[in-house]
Order: sequence, then C-alpha cells, then structure tokens
Amino acid sequence: MLFPLLLSLVVCTAASFTFPTRLVFQSPTGLFLENLAVRPNGKLLITSPLSTTLHTLDPTVENPTFDEVYTFPNVTLFGIAEVQPDVYGIIAFMVNATTVSAVPGTLAIWRVDLSSGGPPVVNKAADVPDGVFLDGLSTVPGDPDLVLAADTIAGLVWQINLRTGVVRVAAQDEAFAAGAPAPAFGINGLHVRGGDLYFTNSQKKTFSRVPISVRGGNVGQTGPVQVLGSANGTNTFDDFAFDAEGRVWVATASNTFTLFFPPAQGNGMLGQLNAPGNPVEFDSPTSAAFGRGGVAQQHTLYVTTMTGQLIAVDTTGIHV
Ligand SMILES: *[C@@H]1O[C@H](CO)[C@@H](O)[C@H](O)[C@H]1NC(C)=O
Ligand SMILES: *[C@@H]1O[C@H](CO)[C@@H](O)[C@H](O)[C@H]1NC(C)=O
Ligand SMILES: *[C@@H]1O[C@H](CO)[C@@H](O)[C@H](O)[C@H]1NC(C)=O
Repeated sequence: MLFPLLLSLVVCTAASFTFPTRLVFQSPTGLFLENLAVRPNGKLLITSPLSTTLHTLDPTVENPTFDEVYTFPNVTLFGIAEVQPDVYGIIAFMVNATTVSAVPGTLAIWRVDLSSGGPPVVNKAADVPDGVFLDGLSTVPGDPDLVLAADTIAGLVWQINLRTGVVRVAAQDEAFAAGAPAPAFGINGLHVRGGDLYFTNSQKKTFSRVPISVRGGNVGQTGPVQVLGSANGTNTFDDFAFDAEGRVWVATASNTFTLFFPPAQGNGMLGQLNAPGNPVEFDSPTSAAFGRGGVAQQHTLYVTTMTGQLIAVDTTGIHV
C-alpha cells in the first residue's frame, strides 16, 4: 500500500505556466497545420489535411518560407514520424468530408527518405485498406520497420510494417473509441515510450497510457489502460510531445497546452500553459515537437495550429 500512497502524495495541484512564445510563421491562407517532425538538421516537416504537399520550414531564420518538399497524388497528409535518421513515415489519404472517412483505396503510409541530402525519395510503403481515418503516427522503439497509427474514427491502433507492407490491428480497446455517435474522433495522438503507449482521445477528453510489448515483430497490449488526466469544458486533447525530462506537452484545443509528468511522478497533471499576456496565443493547437540542435533548440517547443500558426515556445524556465 505504500506505493499508491506515495503516488497520491506527489500529484500536485494544477498550476498555470507562462513561457515566452514567438510566432515563427503564419500561413497567409490560414492553412490547417496538422502534424510536424523535426529533422536532424533542425528544419521542420509539416503536414496539412487540406494540402497534398509536405512542407518544410527553417524555424531558426528570420521570416522563414514555407517550402514544398513533395506533393502527393490526390491525398492529403496527417501524422508524420521519423522512423530512421531523416526517413519519415506519413499517413496520407483522400478524405471524404461527407462520411469523414478515407475514400476507399486511397489510405496508405508513405515513406519519405531525405537522408541522402538530395531530392526526396518517396514511395508508398503500405496500403491500409480497412483503415477509416488515420490521424496520429508513432514509431516503435527497437523496431525501425514498425509504426503504429491511430484510427480515430474506428477507435483502434493499426500496426504497419514499412518494409513488408503487412498491416494488422495492434490493439483495440474501449479507451480508443470515441464512445459517441459517428463520426466522432476517438484516439488521436499516440507515442510509444518506455514500454507504454501514450495516447489522447479527443471525444473522451482523456490522456492515457497502456502497457505494450513487441514480440516477434508484433505489438500487443499487455495490461489495462490507465487514464492520466482529462480535459475540462470545451477543451480537447490532440497530439503531444515528450520533453527531455519526460514531461508531456499535450496540445489542447481551443487555446492551451496541458502538462503531465506521468513516468516519474505518478499520474501528476502539472498544469496548463496559457501564456496570458503573451503577444502570441495558440489558436487551436494540433501538435508539438521539440527542436533539435543546440540546447536552446532542445528547449523550444514548436507548435502547429488549425489556423496556420507555427509557434515557438521557449520552455527553458520550467522547473517542475
Ligand atoms: C486525382 O483525382 C482526380 C479527380 O478524382 C482524377 O481525375 C485524377 O486522375 C487523380 N489524379 C491522380 C494522380 O490520381
Ligand atoms: C463520399 O461519400 C458520399 C456518401 O457516401 C458519396 O456519395 C461520395 O461519392 C463519396 N465521395 C468520394 C470522393 O468517394
Ligand atoms: C479539470 O478540472 C478539475 C477539477 O477542477 C481539475 O482538478 C483538473 O486539473 C482539470 N483538468 C485540466 C486538464 O485542466
């Protein structure tokens, strides 16, 4: 009984954090920005569910431009994850806005290889014919061939082998389902860390984790889902990023971030990032990723929003 008691003692009261924020880029058309990956060279790769083009932006220069990396045939872009150094998996499909699902035959995971330094080498790694609406994408530490994709409408997690093209359901749990009449968005962002799959569920407003194992090239759920926190009111959780200390920064629509510290500190929700008084405020944040390069970059959280903002948050001041 000592262990649970200790956990309950370290759960702290929710606090409010304010950090310097800077608008790095604003899409002139207000393009909905969905997800991002940070390249080893520090440049960002950015997807949009309303664009067939994968874009790049250098967040370290004044007035960065939003440049084309590659334009896909008739499909728009969702989750992106770096599967090997400077090689990315990307979810792409044609959205049927009426049914809020992928047009049959269009849903696939593509592989974008930028590691040569030359033009991108792009190929379709796997079709996901039974996928409904894939959103977040995660790597699987220890198996560079595998990715996990959140099917937000079907409410399950797909496993895709980018080398063999084999697709299977890795996990199905009530905690992934929206639990509301379709179309509703359930599991959204997901990331594997330290033997757990962490995920958000938009409709249920939860941030949770579930233990998984990787055996024989397959991911499986090995225990019950643990809910780590919930969003209140009209807030909903989207994608999230781990920082170097293991804190989790969850993009929270409509205008904030929610901080958690699950691994080391029990289930503690640390608080919300409101940045009141900052010249820049988050307008419907969708995802976030920490910079790469020097120490300053590693403490910079890059945020995408539905309204076309790319915002840099200097998190150096966090001491919890
Ligand atoms: C894209 O979709 C349009 C309309 O459905 C079709 O005419 C065109 O051939 C498609 N292009 C490709 C490259 O699939
Ligand atoms: C989208 O779904 C509607 C309703 O089922 C259907 O009528 C329409 O043809 C679909 N559009 C595409 C592009 O598949
Ligand atoms: C939601 O509200 C409860 C009760 O006021 C609070 O304890 C919790 O921290 C809030 N969660 C978030 C994500 O703000």
